Amino acid sequence: MSTDFAHITVLCREAIEAIAPHAGGFYADATAGGGGHSAAVLEASAPDGRVLAIDRDPRAVQAARARLEPYGARALVVHGEFSDLPVLLREAGASTVDGLVADLGVSSPQLDAAERGFSFAAAGPLDMRMDSEHGESLAELLERVDEAELADILHDYGEERRARAVARSILRARDRGELSDTTDLRRAIVRVLGPRRGRIDPATRSFQGLRIAVNRELDQLDALLAALPELLSDEAVAAIISFHSLEDRRVKWAFREEPRLAPLTKRPQMAGEAECAENPRARSAKLRAARRLPRARDEELAAQAAQAAQSAGPAGGRWRP
Ligand SMILES: C[S@@+](CC[C@H](N)C(=O)[O-])C[C@H]1O[C@@H](n2cnc3c(N)ncnc32)[C@H](O)[C@@H]1O
Repeated sequence: MSTDFAHITVLCREAIEAIAPHAGGFYADATAGGGGHSAAVLEASAPDGRVLAIDRDPRAVQAARARLEPYGARALVVHGEFSDLPVLLREAGASTVDGLVADLGVSSPQLDAAERGFSFAAAGPLDMRMDSEHGESLAELLERVDEAELADILHDYGEERRARAVARSILRARDRGELSDTTDLRRAIVRVLGPRRGRIDPATRSFQGLRIAVNRELDQLDALLAALPELLSDEAVAAIISFHSLEDRRVKWAFREEPRLAPLTKRPQMAGEAECAENPRARSAKLRAARRLPRARDEELAAQAAQAAQSAGPAGGRWRP
């Protein structure tokens, strides 16, 4: 397995400014990838700050281990899902962290390697799993879904307006035995939506929806967000970088609705011109940060939140996913 991992870290300075790592601190990187954010946290917390870095992709784990090797025992890279972070943290002998970064979604090597099946630029298997050793592949998902379920995936996760017709076309291709790889899948989508007109390929939204479904990305994110108050030590900051509105909305509302967290970013931070010029992927990155309020205030904060919910009435202005 190669450890060549060509991924440019996004919003690194902003993440480090938000978390403000210090010597002696213990931090979590929920999405190790190529280890870019982890390395920056380790630099900023020298000489003895430590990082627990996790990734569900075994190739990313290997790449992050190689990148973080110079930091010795200060870096612990573990294979796992960030929904399991409380357990992974306990296994690492800790219960809380002094800061956390999560850089959501997929890495450039995952997208670019045709054999991972994320891309329609080249023919690849219908896979799309970040952890290609576990879970249901895209081929298995497409084998079991009916038209209504597939349309929901394309609509809810891909924000595809013509989801029903696209789902029908994909399943027709499947039933005729014409759905073997990612280019077949694109063909079935484009048959409904027509050829590319602008900068974005018409299959992009559907591919995003399918990838989110295969990897249960929003469930993973919800679990991480729900665990933050438990994971963060008092005054610790979580910085979360998202790449599409489904994720950003969840982060924004979780930070706003959780009484034990204080949002630090009213609007998300975005990459500047220079970073976008160097790394086009940074264009859609949005960073939001929140600070864990001291545990001594938990009861008072819960009472305030209950009172606010009561005076807001049954609708309460609360967000529901
Ligand atoms: C954008 S990359 C991270 C890049 C990294 N920050 C860097 O600078 O090199 C996202 C990584 O998160 C991982 N990932 C996505 N969802 C995950 C989850 N639920 N649990 C663990 N890792 C996840 C992916 O496998 C991928 O390697």
